[in-house]
Amino acid sequence: MTVGARRVFACAAVVCAACLVTVAGLRAQTAPERVPMVEETFKTVQLLKGIPVDTFFEVMGTFASSMGNDCTFCHASNAALDKSAFATQTPRIQRARQMITMVKAINQQYFGGAPRVTCFTCHGGSNVPKADPSFMSQYGEPVLDPDARDFLTDASVNVNQVFAKYIQALGGADKLAKLTSYAAKGTYSGFDTDRSPVPIELYAKAPNQETVVVHLTIGASTRVFDGTNAWVAGPEQPLPLLTLTSGNIDRARLSALANFPVGLQKAYPQWRAGRTILNDKDVIVLQATVNGDRVAQLFFDPTSGLLLRLLRFTITPIAFVPTQLDYADYRELPGLGVKIPFQRTLTQTYMQMTLQFTDVQANAPIDAARFAKPAPAKLQSEK
Ligand code: HEC
Ligand code: HEC
Repeated sequence: MTVGARRVFACAAVVCAACLVTVAGLRAQTAPERVPMVEETFKTVQLLKGIPVDTFFEVMGTFASSMGNDCTFCHASNAALDKSAFATQTPRIQRARQMITMVKAINQQYFGGAPRVTCFTCHGGSNVPKADPSFMSQYGEPVLDPDARDFLTDASVNVNQVFAKYIQALGGADKLAKLTSYAAKGTYSGFDTDRSPVPIELYAKAPNQETVVVHLTIGASTRVFDGTNAWVAGPEQPLPLLTLTSGNIDRARLSALANFPVGLQKAYPQWRAGRTILNDKDVIVLQATVNGDRVAQLFFDPTSGLLLRLLRFTITPIAFVPTQLDYADYRELPGLGVKIPFQRTLTQTYMQMTLQFTDVQANAPIDAARFAKPAPAKLQSEK
């Protein structure tokens, strides 16, 4: 991830605020949450209608990833600074619309409407898809992507044992049961901070609540999973209050569950196991399926037993889009004999960020308001 990737975020960070009006009136405390669709928010959208805003950004990230470029490959170059410029129509946006129609038609006609052919299928990280047979790929070293959803099941790996070893590696179920909450302080660095560290707080409460507050120089950005719903409210976001949906909400749930991992195995009814290679090391991969779709993967170090990576796919009309959470720097909490990861790196098609804890208060009392729906933020663009 280099400058290009960072610019992807720069684009993502400065999206439209014409939508404020739409969102503001909608919120009643008790009524079920109504999530605005993308066409209520962005006025030039013609084809990708009927999906929530968070899903739309997964699609845009997929476009950038498929092209191996950033948002301004298709969008006007000033969109990086002026979010309203995302609405400027360009020849590449027109070309991309033709491609959306083409991909839909192929999937409809030959794959029963499932997103089997995606932008990435042809483009694979380049605006010019390869057309000629390649000896390099035919005879060269194969490249193994650990995140691939297709892998061979390995019957020698016992799922229960993998989870049991993980729990043991963290200190064992008895000790883990004594950890019911924690409040962490540390730093955040991401594309949006130009990789410079800014302060964060993370609040976690068993069994499955998590709030992260990132103190960006432009204001605080709050990301909440309350056990059922997930929101992001920050000045860098496209909306004052972004409600997460489908795969994104489930990823927030997994992330919160992984803080008190005794419940992680039960996140899905069924797992299948295989082996792959992650960072040059053999690892165990467990995959969960929901309604026939392979949606989540956990990666474990077979030696230490620790969880290294959590992967969750969001199903969009264009592709299954991955979000990855990497865990590192496991440290024991003093007095408890329980280990937690002090480093977490979140990778998305449009964003990458690393949290590094410096101080963790175990079992600190945490006000329930920390996990409540956050107040809408004032967007950067309004200031
Ligand atoms: C491959 C080309 C391509 C790339 C790369 C791309 N987009 Fe788009 N974008 C489109 C197309 C096409 C539309 C219109 C979709 C439609 O009409 O349904 C669009 C529409 C939008 C809109 C709606 C604009 C409005 O106000 O109506 C926003 C916002 C947006 N994109 C943001 C992004 C962001 C952020 C990124 C980078 C993460 C990105 N796009 C990358 C092609 C692209
Ligand atoms: C079946 C293969 C295939 C699929 C699937 C596909 N494309 Fe393309 N795309 C092409 C080819 C071939 C070109 C022409 C490349 C060239 O100019 O040599 C192209 C060109 C483009 C261009 C113009 C690039 C430039 O250099 O100006 C854009 C933008 C684009 N595609 C976006 C998309 C998007 C977005 C998707 C998914 C919705 C997609 N494509 C899916 C094959 C495909």
